[in-house]
Amino acid sequence: MRIPRSVREAGVGDKRVLVRADLNVPLEGGRVADDTRIRAALPTLELLLERGAAQVRLCSHLGRPKGPDPAYAIRPVEERLRELLPDERIRVVENTRFDPGETENDEGFARALADGMDVYVNDAFGSAHRAHASTEAVARVLPAYAGLLLERELRELSRLLGEVERPFLLISGGAKVEDKLGVLRNLGGRADTTLVGGKMAEELRVDNPLDFQVVLPTDVVAAAAFEREAESRVVAYDGLPDGWLGLDIGPETRSSFAEHVGRARTIFWNGPMGVFEWPRFAEGTKAVAEAVAAAPAFSVVGGADSARALSELGLEDEVSWLSTGGGAALELLEGKELPGVAAIPEA
Ligand code: 3PG
Ligand code: MG
Repeated sequence: MRIPRSVREAGVGDKRVLVRADLNVPLEGGRVADDTRIRAALPTLELLLERGAAQVRLCSHLGRPKGPDPAYAIRPVEERLRELLPDERIRVVENTRFDPGETENDEGFARALADGMDVYVNDAFGSAHRAHASTEAVARVLPAYAGLLLERELRELSRLLGEVERPFLLISGGAKVEDKLGVLRNLGGRADTTLVGGKMAEELRVDNPLDFQVVLPTDVVAAAAFEREAESRVVAYDGLPDGWLGLDIGPETRSSFAEHVGRARTIFWNGPMGVFEWPRFAEGTKAVAEAVAAAPAFSVVGGADSARALSELGLEDEVSWLSTGGGAALELLEGKELPGVAAIPEA
């Protein structure tokens, strides 16, 4: 893989540095509900401050606003950042997506972001699959470097693309099936075993476009409706009553998936096994999270839902690498070039 040049090689003393981080965090009641991505951005900011940067202009998108929208103001993110890293040299600019030029990858908007700055550091791994003004065009306006998080994400994830310790186990779940087929094709062919749960498993039952074997559930927790308190029972994977939905993997599948996980030496897990935000359909995802955390393997977990399942169980430090990227991690593992990375000159 092409390695972008590192912020560690940038001369930043007395320089004004534009930093793009992925501070796209969940908000609840006007406050940051999960600050994982903010904390993940700190090492690069600390490095810049320690090395005497005169000023740091920090930018990020937040949500998917269609223009200026107070519900997506960056303010709560800035407040949390200031609690974690109070330093007057850091200025946080407003949500980049308030400007239509951001998603258009507009050079004019990139120039506005870069105005008065000397150096650009991209640390936004979670947004690196987007060719937007703050991730791509701006790297043509200022000398560009990769931040520490971006570098680490590339290093850890690319281990899955090279020689791996075997058995190599891929676990795929979640709802966005089309997003994941590319990764399944690219990594699944190299993995020794691919476990599929969640909505993915439902779709593959109807139509399986993959040309290699996957391990599908043998039983599922079926629900009469897509409702938190719906009537539910465990049925065979092939025995879903008409009109019922499989909302979690069943107990037999949980133990067989956990056995696969226990034998693996390399694991990539993306996507929950069921509707885990509803406690009655969370057991499958929990079982996988616990097994992955306990496995004596190089384990990488990507995607916001799997990450949340791990952190709700207090297991976020028990895996080898918990990626801050969902779509970005998937695209990287599909073998695609990430525009935000490609825009930075090579090391
Ligand atoms: C994410 O949360 O997946 C990233 O921040 C990218 O956000 P986006 O999917 O709205 O571009
Ligand atoms: Mg996304």
